[in-house]
Amino acid sequence: MCGIVGYIGDKKAVPVLLHGLSKLEYRGYDSAGVAVLHNDNINIVKTKGRLKALEEILENKSLEGSLGIGHTRWATHGAPSDINSHPHLSQGSSVAVVHNGIIENYLYLKEELEEKGYKFVSETDTETVAHLIDFYLKLGMEFLDAVIKAVDKIEGSYALGVICDSYPDMLIGIRKDSPLVVGLSEGENFIASDMPAILNYTKDIYLLEEREIAVVKKDGVTVYDRNKNVVKKEIFKVNWDVEAAEKGGFDHFMLKEIYEQPKVVKDTFSGRLKEDGIVLDHIDLNMENVNKIYMSACGTASYAAGIGKSVIESICRIPVFTDIASEFRYNNPIIDEKTLVIVVSQSGETADTLAALRLAKEKGAKTLAVVNVVGSSIAREADYVLYTVAGPEIAVASTKAFSAQIAAMYLLGLFFGLKLNKISMEEYRGYASELKELPQKMNTVLQKAGKLKELSDKYLNVKNVFYIGRGLDYLISLEGSLKLKEIAYIHSEPYPAGELKHGPIALIEESTLIVGHLTRKELFEKTISNLKECKARGAKVFAITTEDNGLIGSTADDVFYIPKTSYLFSSILSNIPQQLFAYYMASGLGNDVDKPRNLAKSVTVE
Ligand code: F6R
Repeated sequence: MCGIVGYIGDKKAVPVLLHGLSKLEYRGYDSAGVAVLHNDNINIVKTKGRLKALEEILENKSLEGSLGIGHTRWATHGAPSDINSHPHLSQGSSVAVVHNGIIENYLYLKEELEEKGYKFVSETDTETVAHLIDFYLKLGMEFLDAVIKAVDKIEGSYALGVICDSYPDMLIGIRKDSPLVVGLSEGENFIASDMPAILNYTKDIYLLEEREIAVVKKDGVTVYDRNKNVVKKEIFKVNWDVEAAEKGGFDHFMLKEIYEQPKVVKDTFSGRLKEDGIVLDHIDLNMENVNKIYMSACGTASYAAGIGKSVIESICRIPVFTDIASEFRYNNPIIDEKTLVIVVSQSGETADTLAALRLAKEKGAKTLAVVNVVGSSIAREADYVLYTVAGPEIAVASTKAFSAQIAAMYLLGLFFGLKLNKISMEEYRGYASELKELPQKMNTVLQKAGKLKELSDKYLNVKNVFYIGRGLDYLISLEGSLKLKEIAYIHSEPYPAGELKHGPIALIEESTLIVGHLTRKELFEKTISNLKECKARGAKVFAITTEDNGLIGSTADDVFYIPKTSYLFSSILSNIPQQLFAYYMASGLGNDVDKPRNLAKSVTVE
């Protein structure tokens, strides 16, 4: 996904911008560029490809100047190319713009501008903004007024960084439906779409709200609302540093993040899983007024929501519906004031999840967001927030954030269960002591990572994989299959074990690998029969099961045992071997594990 960084101060802008962009690489991108103002001229260097390509060009073509904007682009309008990369210049090069988001009425605006004589050089929606601002400047408006006037014409989402050759002392940042923050420091200030871009320089941040506009100068920042009233902003102090986001001795961020999971789960429980009940600050929901729950999210987060549904229904016997956010928002879901809508998101910026949240609010539902990124849009807009305490997740493929989301689901299940009097304090304490043991059990699984490396070597050339299970074991199969697809680029499908024979079994052949999840004792025999059906057709079987499964025997070619826990909480353990399996497959195949092809960390467009 696109990333923005902007700088004004005494330093040379280019190194600051490049450093900032490097901290945004994890978001996924296909091109990068910078624009710097020097001697009343805006100079731009941009290119398709990795940041390294941009750095190489800049080594031979030094850009002077202490005011600049930079961008990493993830293509939406127009293919990845040098010309479509940001920053975009207005005709005559007086204005340069970087943009995250989508301008929905850009074709209409483009036509209007073309009629006025503007010539477009790129296929992007962003170029319209540069020309529009230029148009208003030429009408005699001040820079700030021209930007406000231009964004008034825009429909869609944007975070914008803008510089103008006649205003060498200012940088303008503005946002709607796409995040943007301002970094504050002595004699220099910054804008960024994501905090890591500027944390090297400052921990003091203004979080811009919808349609707020920041005029950023070397010695100060003024924030205005859409009507140009000055807004008094509070400084948000960031309490984690860039170091926290570095690889720390692991080959990849993903592996590091997999190993961080016991701590992340412990941190997510910390202060909440108390002797006499679950304590969730500021969540004073009256569950008596809730007759059903909806859960909505995208991708991996939606699988955490699925596990949440199962856990909450089991404990609370209240109906819970789940819907992928991109479906939910157009499905006219049946929700009202008696519905609690829970959205789950690592980034807190996923466009569809944000839209689902807004729809739920519009329909009068109470909303609760399970979010990792503090201060993100979803966190700010939901009625209640339960933060997962996963810290920054850098690898594009989610691992530790997912475990933290599952941990949050367990907390919610018990929290609602107690509120609704569906569990006694004694039952609660039983569940709570099991939860407290999970981080240690996760460590036990991680200690056997070598076995997964061996298995990945054995199955490195596999082309088709099925992940199967029943109940929660099926729900966790969804994530195993996604991980393998997204980082190892191997075709795989998750399937409810009992459903295979209704069609997909036709695809099973000699070279197929079946990953079977078995953590529910009562259903061991059923799933084992399904594994046998696959084996009879020549497939190889890799089973992930609990230590007490004495039945698996020779049905499986390979078995990975996880420590025994209540079936209700098994997913958080059985997920780890499949994460490691996908990781070792991907690294064994030489893939760019942390930045898999075609994927973005934060999907802020529909
Ligand atoms: C997969 C992955 C994605 C995200 C999805 C939602 O590894 O990371 O499927 O889970 O894009 O993102 P968030 O949680 O930021 O809303």
